[in-house]
Amino acid sequence: MRDGHTPAPGAAHTQNRRLLQWVADIAALTQPDRIHWCDGSEAEYDRLCAELVAAGTLRKLNEALRPNSYLALSDPSDVARVEDRTFICSKRQQDAGPTNNWVDPSAMRDTLKGLFAGCMRGRTMYVIPFSMGPIGSPIAHIGVEISDSAYVAVNMRHMTRMGAAVLSTLGDDGDFVPAVHSVGAPIGPGETDVAWPSNKQHKYIVHFPEDREIWSFGSGYGGNALLGKKCFALRIASVMGRDEGWLAEHMLILGVESPAGVKQYVTAAFPSACGKTNFAMLIPPPAFAGWKVTTVGDDIAWIKPGPDGALRAINPEAGFFGVAPGTGYDTNPNCMESIKRNTIFTNVALTPEGDVWWEGMTKEPPARLTDWQGQDWTPGCGRPAAHPNARFTVSASQCPSIDPAWDDPKGVPISAMIFGGRRSSTVPLVTEGATWDEGVYMAATLGSETTAAIVGQVGVVRRDPFAMLAFCGYNMGDYIAHWIGMGRRIAHPPKIFLVNWFRKGADGKFVWPGYGENMRVLKWIVERVEGLADATRTPLGYVPKYSDLDWRGLDGFSQDAYQSIASIDRDMWRRELPMHEELLEKLGQTTPATLRERFQALAGTLT
Ligand code: OXD
Ligand code: MN
Repeated sequence: MRDGHTPAPGAAHTQNRRLLQWVADIAALTQPDRIHWCDGSEAEYDRLCAELVAAGTLRKLNEALRPNSYLALSDPSDVARVEDRTFICSKRQQDAGPTNNWVDPSAMRDTLKGLFAGCMRGRTMYVIPFSMGPIGSPIAHIGVEISDSAYVAVNMRHMTRMGAAVLSTLGDDGDFVPAVHSVGAPIGPGETDVAWPSNKQHKYIVHFPEDREIWSFGSGYGGNALLGKKCFALRIASVMGRDEGWLAEHMLILGVESPAGVKQYVTAAFPSACGKTNFAMLIPPPAFAGWKVTTVGDDIAWIKPGPDGALRAINPEAGFFGVAPGTGYDTNPNCMESIKRNTIFTNVALTPEGDVWWEGMTKEPPARLTDWQGQDWTPGCGRPAAHPNARFTVSASQCPSIDPAWDDPKGVPISAMIFGGRRSSTVPLVTEGATWDEGVYMAATLGSETTAAIVGQVGVVRRDPFAMLAFCGYNMGDYIAHWIGMGRRIAHPPKIFLVNWFRKGADGKFVWPGYGENMRVLKWIVERVEGLADATRTPLGYVPKYSDLDWRGLDGFSQDAYQSIASIDRDMWRRELPMHEELLEKLGQTTPATLRERFQALAGTLT
């Protein structure tokens, strides 16, 4: 540090020796100009946002149209998670498994030492204490992120419980997950900063699972930089879950209440940008009067066996970092209401009035916009106005459908688990695994067409077991075995379902209307749990006949249309099964025998 002392606002209010030592060590390595300990207050948030506005990183939106909200435009090269630069550095390569990038931990530590040496020069180092889960909950865990990005600090205030209260709970000897983040762009003497600093040459998102430690370098964006989310709550937490007998999953959590007042909670796992936020905030169609859907979380669930033999889940996050494009009053009114104020937008377009816009927000685009790259934009100019992975960051408490128990330290009991991918063919609208193991097989072999949430090719089908391909912090075969084991260890395992909202017709259009109409499938699912709905046994599992679903109020959706998305086409399954086999081969020795047996059974009946 240049001045050798910490200024009073933002000083350390902790005696936690390990934390103080770690912060001192990282400061010595990274050489920031200043250290600021975040207290999580509104005054601090406002001051950091004002500084970000002055630096050109944030732009204040029109106070009358979008109160207390900001727009950030990232560097065009820093717009999504970088899976090919994400590493699981377990001591043994086999513990990272065939689906993760692995580097020997001591070699990686050498690399990181080189990259982080002096990387915060000219910048402020923010120390961001955060709790994943309600502070003090037996299911929650504390992390501390060190970051040289004020954009990260203000986003973390929405996404986690952050600041002084966390340090109080941590106490003098409490345990925490250390997470170091740098944009990797030191400012030399006489140099000026850019609006969105990042490192174009080097990006590293690194996890040391045995040490429960995270290091992130070179990106300021989303899951690369907000380290409580994918890095801690999924990759590191999945390892903690393996070791301690619980599950950290890429799942939304929602509550469904029937007109009879029966309330169930279900989780749903989908790969990135498959409409999890929309499903979590679903509004039932008018014909479903008396049905209520409430939101506990939209992305991640931590699930632990409760004393009653059921699984209990918390949402470890406190906010939503959702995909903006495709979100509108016609598709997700609860979300639109959530982001009316106190929201940070990233990579959406700006209207001349100083509000935001993105594709799908309104049917008619505005006549003129400034696009996500700061260029003039008009409809038909051939470029998207918002980046397809543009995001909003907002506190969950602003969501009109937030569940009364979303912040309950005990979590909520889970009675069904849904998995889903984006598949234009092959996979039926909904299937119920006849047993826990059949459900695990469906989740393990989940396939999905890729989206803009990751850097790389869009629209190719990849196997994404449990929607955790990018987020499992250990060997995927061991992870699936852990799931099989969990089903044996709990007295009342939830039912497991597979859904596919994305089947297309011969015209290339989605057949299923989706959004609020997904309530029809959700109702069947919760009624299956209650033993109230019928189904037919097929080689894949139980599926509803047309007459088993509630079609009230959906005129014009014919039985033929239903058949076209619920049917099991053997030719297609003959093409699908070799892709399952490929995954089982890839997992090799660690493939659980139950998975192989289920594959053989399917191959026997479907081919
Ligand atoms: C996300 C993702 O940001 O899955 O939630 O990419
Ligand atoms: Mn996600």
